[in-house]
Amino acid sequence: AEKPVPGGKEVLVEFEDGIAWVQLNRPAKRNAMSVGLAHEMNEVLDALETDDRCGVVVLTGVGEAFSAGMDLKDFFRATDGLSDIERHRAYRSTRAWQWRTLMHYAKPTIAMVNGWCFGGAFTPLICCDLAVTDEKAVFGLSEINWGVIPGGVVSKAISTVMGDRQALYYVMSGEKFDGAKAVALGLANEAVPKEQLRARTAEIARTLLGKNPTVLRQARMAYKYSREMTWEQASEYLTAKVDQTNFVDPERGKEQGLKQFLDEKSFRPGLGNYVR
Ligand code: ACO
Repeated sequence: AEKPVPGGKEVLVEFEDGIAWVQLNRPAKRNAMSVGLAHEMNEVLDALETDDRCGVVVLTGVGEAFSAGMDLKDFFRATDGLSDIERHRAYRSTRAWQWRTLMHYAKPTIAMVNGWCFGGAFTPLICCDLAVTDEKAVFGLSEINWGVIPGGVVSKAISTVMGDRQALYYVMSGEKFDGAKAVALGLANEAVPKEQLRARTAEIARTLLGKNPTVLRQARMAYKYSREMTWEQASEYLTAKVDQTNFVDPERGKEQGLKQFLDEKSFRPGLGNYVR
């Protein structure tokens, strides 16, 4: 029997040819993120990791927003009154999906920014591997505008993709900017007109689906972990990671690649994939 589709309340999932479109589903609240959404998103991402219908996750929003950030009512005000332990649990649930899970997810992830993207939404945006945005989407580190600092892990997350001058400018001014600017700032790979957003995102996802999934996973992990190591450690780790990749790859990709290029002369690695 087919597995049930995960989510269904504040998170919707749609499968399409190997792509799982994971949608924040609180359009009336501009997809502001509540405590309930965090719990549901953790279940959804956990389920998709071992679901064969999902080869790539696209994270996006229903309606006119990607996400208007943390829900000021159903996250902040709702947790302010809780005991310290209960509050800790709500924050942990948000931390879990927004960065811990996404950053080290077993499958490739693409954020598709379809509209408003504020504050806390920057964390899952940055922790997806790639991001494509509507050129007219509106972004902002709006925390300063309502009297808080970019918390959660937003300040840390932006420092991994934006330069200090740019990051501090937006942290301090709370000024909004558009999708084209988000690309210039390093927050997204590409900005496209709204009518091309889904097709372009699907095209990138299909490119990823064409790769050896084991090697693709190892390549993403190797990049993310080595970034925080010294050169000495990274060199040793990456050399070991190459061997480990070879060892765990059921496709024997490297052998195939070498054979097809050196012996059969049937493809050129500089120009495309080996035949899988
Ligand atoms: N938290 C709680 N409710 C929200 C949020 C939010 N972050 N964003 C929107 N909503 C709610 C509104 O309160 C409103 O609810 P109501 O219909 O029950 O009154 C509904 O969503 C629609 O919002 P509007 O403001 O009417 O929508 P509009 O399209 O005019 O504006 C915009 C959209 C610009 C996104 C605006 O809602 C906004 O500024 N939201 C807050 C953005 C923000 O600063 N988020 C917090 C970032 S900081 C952090 O995440 C830690």
